[in-house]
Amino acid sequence: MTPGLLGGIALLATLVFSLVGLVLAGLALWAQDRRYLEAARRVAPMALLAALTSFGALEWALLTHDFSVRYVALHHSVKDPLWVTLVTPWAALEGSILLWGTLQTLYTWLVSRRVDAGGFKSASTTPLLDPWRAPVALGVLFAIQVFFFAVMVFVAHPFDALPNPPADGRGPNPLLQNHWMMAVHPVLMYLGFVGLSVPFAYALSAMVARRFQSWIFETRWWTLVAWGFLSTAIFAGAWWSYEILGWGGYWAWDPVENASFIPWLLATAFLHTTQVQERRGMFKPWNFAYITLAFAATVFGTFLTRSGVIQSVHAFADGPVGALFLVFLLGVLVVGLGLLSKVSGEVRDAGEVRWKSREGALLAGSLLFGTMAFVVVIGTLWPLVVEALSAAKVSIGAPFFNQVSAPMGVAALLLMGIGPVLPWRNAGPQIRRNLLLLGSALLVGTALGLLLRLTLGVSLSLGLLAYNLCAVGVMIDQGVKERSRALGISRWKAFLELASSSRRRFGSHIVHVGFALAAVAIAFSQTYRFEEAKTLNLGQSWQTAGVELRLRNVGVEDQGNRQSVYALVEMRAVDRRGLWADGTYTTRLNFYPQMGNQGLAAPDLKYTLYNDYYLILQAFDTERGQWATLKLVVTPLVLWLWIAGGIIALGTLYILWPSPQPQRERTAGGA
Ligand code: HEM
Repeated sequence: MTPGLLGGIALLATLVFSLVGLVLAGLALWAQDRRYLEAARRVAPMALLAALTSFGALEWALLTHDFSVRYVALHHSVKDPLWVTLVTPWAALEGSILLWGTLQTLYTWLVSRRVDAGGFKSASTTPLLDPWRAPVALGVLFAIQVFFFAVMVFVAHPFDALPNPPADGRGPNPLLQNHWMMAVHPVLMYLGFVGLSVPFAYALSAMVARRFQSWIFETRWWTLVAWGFLSTAIFAGAWWSYEILGWGGYWAWDPVENASFIPWLLATAFLHTTQVQERRGMFKPWNFAYITLAFAATVFGTFLTRSGVIQSVHAFADGPVGALFLVFLLGVLVVGLGLLSKVSGEVRDAGEVRWKSREGALLAGSLLFGTMAFVVVIGTLWPLVVEALSAAKVSIGAPFFNQVSAPMGVAALLLMGIGPVLPWRNAGPQIRRNLLLLGSALLVGTALGLLLRLTLGVSLSLGLLAYNLCAVGVMIDQGVKERSRALGISRWKAFLELASSSRRRFGSHIVHVGFALAAVAIAFSQTYRFEEAKTLNLGQSWQTAGVELRLRNVGVEDQGNRQSVYALVEMRAVDRRGLWADGTYTTRLNFYPQMGNQGLAAPDLKYTLYNDYYLILQAFDTERGQWATLKLVVTPLVLWLWIAGGIIALGTLYILWPSPQPQRERTAGGA
């Protein structure tokens, strides 16, 4: 058996299993019979196994250089290093759909294990998937699987055969093999995207079964997992882009970056409004709307990249796949929002929201995230709309997005500090002291920045970090005092007890501080970035930005799959601004056969706790290696952005980590 044949059969089998699962889930709903539900559950692992086999077959074809498979011939070369070969399944269109579909079967299987096998006898709400809603939830997940595997079987087959296989293939897009992050970022992103299908499926099932409350408890874990993957993927993507794209920045508001940011914004809004429903049984319609939009946004991103409507590092192909994703996107919106409009009369909120309360802050915050998502959608689509209507080219670039996101970021940081400090329902005069403390921290932090002659924006970011740290301090202090008094234990013991039993509270503090830290890093790095370029002869030195650079060597290396031209540069600090810059830098231009004479920059950089020194080789003496044109980019506090990303990931993990004793949250009842 060849890998192509095995992969093709397994692909078809996954489609068939998914269809059978869908039909069985439909029968379980129609007949209200748990035997069908049980059967649907049993199909989920079969679909997973078949999808894994298909994925494995693609790896097999790549590892054995089987160029009779078109995908392998187009995106792999015998010269590729092993790690590049292993990650090639997601380096192009068909393989990335296969990864998405396989992860979907994984999530469906995990959800199927949460179905309460007790059947339809009891309506009890447990952490398990409520059996009244299970058929629809599983059915939706199977339906999504059917879409992905049908696209592969009928339109974008990863195992299409090539009648006359070449002796060697082209290899993947060089940009994708220039950095190990290729092994990490796409997988995290897909885990996040696909993960959002679970709360979406639960939301639809809640609307169909008209049981509007308990799905929120059941989906919290899934939402956090998906949100955590998405957040980490966005930071990882920014880091990757910083390290390899050779312009010294990490976020360019590229349409595809935006496409990952939109679901993140909507998922963050959802993560916060669900807390109000959990606690007070309110914001039900918001939650249905937000999760529908968040899931639709993941499909929107895929539509953008697969339709060929944009040109980008991430864009894969022109062809019918884009149109199919558009239909799928519209389907998600029509079904989700259509069902919401159908049940809207029954899910109206009973209570009233006061702005001076925790739910008020949560609503304001989620509206802010929703508005930002809307702005990013419009900013991303506007050039396409103008081009389609008038053939004129307009570009909405970083300045527009930066201008809009800066005030929104400030508002989000203000709300993020005050929100958790406010009590539920209505804040009384007792919070005045806390507000005073928070306001003072904001003023002191900002004033300190201004005294250090930082710009107003950067000083404000420091003030907002101080304000958020103060908010966390106030809440921890309050919790520790209460616990120490109630349990008669020391403050330290009370702190440890609080940290281990209130994982959600503590974890969200960690995540919030991570976000405030990221804002400081962004403010500094965007405001004080310095760059300069110069051509140096061998041995010549150049003083700039507090450092002295000396060109030591220019040479070329044959690295199998590419020719790598390098410049060896010594850098040393000449004044305080060049702190920690000392070292030898090897900056490269890599030449891949697929890209002709166009070199791909592989900058060398040194991270420090203050400035990053980022050296790019722009041009070189092709004949004798006597000179090189170098560009130096010095950016402060970028390392703190990656640290902030790590803090956010750790905070999320901390919340998700099982508690030694189950946390008792006061919650709103109802099904
Ligand atoms: C949790 C408010 C922005 C991530 C929370 C909680 C509140 C809150 C009140 C619950 C804390 C507790 O249980 O004691 C807000 C407000 C924001 C905001 C008003 C401003 C717009 C953010 C941002 C992020 C974030 C920007 C992400 C970087 C989280 C996470 C949780 C959380 C992950 C835990 C959720 C859970 O366990 O279900 N937030 N937050 N928040 N927040 Fe925020």
